[in-house]
Amino acid sequence: MHALFVANWKMNFVRSSAKSFVSAFVDSFTPLPNQHIDVVLAPPFPLLQTVADAVGGAPGIALGTQNVHWLETGAHTGEVSPAMIRDFGATFAIVGHSERRQFYGEHDETVALRAKSALAHGIRPIVCVGESTYFESDEAFDIVGQQLSASLSGIDADDAHTLVVAYEPVWAIGTGRAATPAIIAKIHRFIRAELVKMFGGRGMGVPILYGGSTNPENIAEILTQPNVSGALVGGASLKPDVFVNLILQGRTGFAAQQR
Ligand code: PGA
Repeated sequence: MHALFVANWKMNFVRSSAKSFVSAFVDSFTPLPNQHIDVVLAPPFPLLQTVADAVGGAPGIALGTQNVHWLETGAHTGEVSPAMIRDFGATFAIVGHSERRQFYGEHDETVALRAKSALAHGIRPIVCVGESTYFESDEAFDIVGQQLSASLSGIDADDAHTLVVAYEPVWAIGTGRAATPAIIAKIHRFIRAELVKMFGGRGMGVPILYGGSTNPENIAEILTQPNVSGALVGGASLKPDVFVNLILQGRTGFAAQQR
């Protein structure tokens, strides 16, 4: 299995800064002996073309978006359809990020619609789940379990191999306080078991990313934990050298996990 690192740029960069990021990133990422690493860059929609051009087909780097609508076309002011993002070459879309759930009315039913439609358009949805209060009780498992089953509802086991799940505890996002490796291991084990309940053996193949204050210092230990397949990275994905370093450190942890 490859380790997957997703750069969630959120609402950052304009064309010139996105272009400089990508050329610096490609310069230091592509010469790496980068077997077993996949990277997704998820810029804001207006930067998709700039990022696609700057990546220029460099190996191991895919294009993603931070959201996607479920319908093809129509009277949906401000929305962007799966066909539109495909047209730019995007092959991944983050759906149900907690910032969308908290501030923009996103909920499990619409997350499920987005995820299903993305799959139907050949886009791999990265479905985000995570509890909002600090992990200290079984409640976190209940919340994550409910979000997971509702957000993945209606997805066929045949599509499980193209699905990605991200566990992002809301209290860890952008706070500098990542979940501990022990917490991550517990929740990821739980998510794996839920995925197997939903999709049978195919649930074993779904990558489960961790997200929330990852950085080059903490990523190796996080990726050493079983069932952690990579990271969804916010702040640490905004500087090319930091992001490359995170990937390198993460790869070391992931290799140790696979042994
Ligand atoms: P962070 O964000 O790495 O800045 O905590 C992660 C995310 O929101 O995806």
